[in-house]
Amino acid sequence: MKKSEESSYRSIKRLIGAYLRPYWFRVLIVAIVTSMSAMAPYVFGYLGKVMVDDVLQLGEIVKKTVPEQLNLLVLVFFAYIAVHLLSIGFTWFYSYNLAYVSQRIVYTLRQQLHEKLQRLQMTFFDQRQTGKIVARVIDDVDVIQGNATYTLINIISQVALLLVGVVILLKLNFTLAFIAFATLPLYAISYQILVRRIREINQSLRKKNAEIYGLLDEKITGARVIKSFAQEHFEIRKFFRKATKFIRLIMKNVLFNNTLSAIATLISGVGTAVVLWYGALQVKTGTMSLGSLLYFYSSVGVLFSPLITLTNMNVITQRLLTVLGRVFSVLDEEVTIKDSENAVELAEVKGAVSFRHVWLKYEGANEYDLKDINFEVPSGCTVSLVGPSGSGKSSLVNLLLRLYDPTKGDILIDGQSTKGIKLTSLRKHIGMVPQEAILFSGTIAQNIKYGRFNATPQQVINAAKVAEIHDFICSLPEKYETQIGERGMSLSGGQKQRLALAMALLTDPTILILDDSTSALDAETEARLWVTLKKIMANRTSFVITHRISTAMNADFILVLDKGRIVERGSHEELIASSGIYRRLFEQQRTAA
Ligand SMILES: Nc1ncnc2c1ncn2[C@@H]1O[C@H](COP(=O)(O)OP(=O)(O)OP(=O)(O)O)[C@@H](O)[C@H]1O
Ligand SMILES: [Mg+2]
Repeated sequence: MKKSEESSYRSIKRLIGAYLRPYWFRVLIVAIVTSMSAMAPYVFGYLGKVMVDDVLQLGEIVKKTVPEQLNLLVLVFFAYIAVHLLSIGFTWFYSYNLAYVSQRIVYTLRQQLHEKLQRLQMTFFDQRQTGKIVARVIDDVDVIQGNATYTLINIISQVALLLVGVVILLKLNFTLAFIAFATLPLYAISYQILVRRIREINQSLRKKNAEIYGLLDEKITGARVIKSFAQEHFEIRKFFRKATKFIRLIMKNVLFNNTLSAIATLISGVGTAVVLWYGALQVKTGTMSLGSLLYFYSSVGVLFSPLITLTNMNVITQRLLTVLGRVFSVLDEEVTIKDSENAVELAEVKGAVSFRHVWLKYEGANEYDLKDINFEVPSGCTVSLVGPSGSGKSSLVNLLLRLYDPTKGDILIDGQSTKGIKLTSLRKHIGMVPQEAILFSGTIAQNIKYGRFNATPQQVINAAKVAEIHDFICSLPEKYETQIGERGMSLSGGQKQRLALAMALLTDPTILILDDSTSALDAETEARLWVTLKKIMANRTSFVITHRISTAMNADFILVLDKGRIVERGSHEELIASSGIYRRLFEQQRTAA
């Protein structure tokens, strides 16, 4: 409890200090104007008092001549219109400026979140559902947009309204004012009882909301799997259960909130009744004018309204705080994989790679996923990584790109530790075709050019030709301008793999990594592809991960991984001469062919 209050305080301080500050002048003016326009009901109340006491002289305390009364009436008439006009003008002014400030803040927050998400390491994404992250960026920021500045301004103006109201009441009638204030502690009590529950519900509401986002996201990406296992009913029921829980929580929230405002309204109703009763007695005895009573009566109403608004505001504030806390926690997430202070650019890269006693344990894993990986690849050499599924082949090459950092050990390129190289520079020199090709929505050309935006059309075509995908692209109605990905054409697994290959080749990397990148191709296309790939790999360092011995055997040397360890190493001939995993695989695949 204490801790959450402290963090709430910090969130607010940060919102004001870092995000509102640049607009402080505008916010100040808006706060003043909003407070002033909130005072309108008091002025109307005062005009009513003048009307009753001085124009109509119902109280019969002050005596004025009839022409004086009529003059006053004209004055009241114009004052009334003037206050209305002012109030309209003020509202117009602050609505615009409030929107201005909140949009700017949200713009900054979105930019920062997006940038952070781009910079965060893979482990951040491994540990979270994508939908939850999306919910934060979209939903949470929306809440901030709708509430942050508004809440602050509203609190200021409501407090001003309250204070002015208190002064007016005290000036009008001391005893009556105290009767009205006597109801205040009742507010405080009922508020304290309910507000904690509301806060708790709000927190779980937001959590559930994010979960539902996550579920939806997963189900949409996994639509194919759901259908092929005919699990639609199961999924529908699962979603139904989650949604039902969500609705129950929302209804509970509504219930508590309504109870709170009902209690507030009841208290203010009783308070007002007492005021009227006692006030009427005072008017009867002549200690108070009728106009004053009416003014008092209307002001009490105005005075109670900020109390109710402020109570309701608390709920909004709670929600805002939860959301702020979550958004800030993403912004504060430590970027563990980043440029070290004296990181250098890789200028001339030859591409010699060495792994020095590299160990890797993923977060949450019990055992090391890579154990004592130790090898050297001279520049220009091709090394093949072979081994059972889950033996750590992809993990090994991911380390080279610094998608993850090793737990122990070091990786060097041309004798320079990768940790001392600027990330952009490191990744620019390495071309990786990932195990699962991911394409973005856009045209085929845009996708191929992803790693090198300024490539010429001819260079794009050349890369596509080497990747054996050019002919296919030319058979499409719009050729290289065909839209793919979301709302575009769907491609087969092998087509995607070849596009991903073209993407990597276009960047002309010194070190090329192919992670099982030809696995989805038919034998004939694969064989043709390898003829050109071999030429391309001739003068660069290459890592070829494969399950096919026919592909692995062309490498200068082969590393066989098993359970995170290099268990065999050597050339194809050397490895078949021994009797290990490699030899067994070779035999299995030869008899199968
Ligand atoms: N992002 C990750 N977070 C946690 N554990 C991971 C992660 N990626 C891989 N692992 C674990 O590390 C081990 C090695 O996985 P890796 O993907 O490197 O195997 P692989 O040899 O590439 O397998 P395959 O041939 O099936 O692609 C596995 O046990 C896997 O569960
Ligand atoms: Mg793999």
